[in-house]
Amino acid sequence: MTDPTGLLNRDVVVTGGAGAIGSRLVQRALRDGARQVVVVDDFSSGYEWLLPHDGRLRVVRGDVTTLPMLLPTGGENAIVFHLAAFFANQNSVDHPTDDLHTNGLGTLVVLKWAAERAARRIVYASAGCSIAGHNLDEPIREDMPVSLNLDTPYQITKALGEFYCNYYQSQVETVRCRFFNSYGPGEIPGPYRNVIPNWVWLALHQQPLTITGTGDETRDFIFVDDLVDGLVRCATVVQASGEAFNLGTGIQTRVRDLAEAIVATTDSSSPIVYAPRRPWDHSLRRQANIEKARVTLGLDPRVRLTDGLASTVEWFRAHRDRIAAEVKALP
Ligand SMILES: NC(=O)c1ccc[n+]([C@@H]2O[C@H](COP(=O)([O-])OP(=O)(O)OC[C@H]3O[C@@H](n4cnc5c(N)ncnc54)[C@H](O)[C@@H]3O)[C@@H](O)[C@H]2O)c1
Repeated sequence: MTDPTGLLNRDVVVTGGAGAIGSRLVQRALRDGARQVVVVDDFSSGYEWLLPHDGRLRVVRGDVTTLPMLLPTGGENAIVFHLAAFFANQNSVDHPTDDLHTNGLGTLVVLKWAAERAARRIVYASAGCSIAGHNLDEPIREDMPVSLNLDTPYQITKALGEFYCNYYQSQVETVRCRFFNSYGPGEIPGPYRNVIPNWVWLALHQQPLTITGTGDETRDFIFVDDLVDGLVRCATVVQASGEAFNLGTGIQTRVRDLAEAIVATTDSSSPIVYAPRRPWDHSLRRQANIEKARVTLGLDPRVRLTDGLASTVEWFRAHRDRIAAEVKALP
């Protein structure tokens, strides 16, 4: 089912390659024997120090909406992973036009560029929180109806990117990946970042962890390297072309259990406190159905949350000073 050569000897382009997930994908592509990896990133939420030193890696700094100027040549037969994004829900609520610029226009520009350059395939980072909407009391499947009542501009522009992928599918192969909550080494805490890096940082500093809601809400947390493995499969499995795949674990974790697990893993005295749910957050439960990804891609997310949290905390401890230099005020 998988292209037997994988990313070996491939030309790979990663937009957003200096980000939390992109930098891990770049490391994987180089490990897999890619011929060249080109990172396109404006470093608005990415960091050069996350990237490895390798003669096959080229870093192009700039706004993805100007991609044809940034990469005036190349791209033929390349695998393009489009991960550059204005991240994420709360940021888009506060800055909806910036969200549309990068996530809407940026995705359109990357697809058009990939089609004109005859790229081999484009793998698009969509989101599990988009498409089917909120308050689904069963695991989310790829074939669920598209909701017209999404909660944030980010969810709307991630869905928009999927519409554009389907439109361009006749010109270039596209695969739409719906990421659930990624976590792991490489994500720097910040006011608009995910709950796990923020809580790990707060717990390491004995600060309170704030649950916005009752704590009974659930999310599907996937370790970054398992997610990256799914991305590589999306790039290489022939039958994936034109399809959407959930990249999650199929396991839901209560937010309160997550907070307790982080306190335990960091051996912290941080209290767990509660605040009102954010007004836009209507998702009480989020769990991926990953049967399609298991069957078609061979997706097999192996890292259990306790092990993934342990290696995340280890990474935070190893890079404490660098992370401290970047961390802004956390919610
Ligand atoms: N992390 C998650 O849990 C999650 C969940 C669902 C979807 N996703 C999607 O996965 C992708 C990667 O997420 P991440 O967690 O690594 O986020 P990230 O913020 O760490 O990475 C995004 C990267 O894109 C870059 N970028 C932003 N705007 C840009 C622009 N205009 N031009 C060029 N580069 C730009 C940033 O500097 C950053 O390096 C994103 O598309 C995100 O929407 C992530």
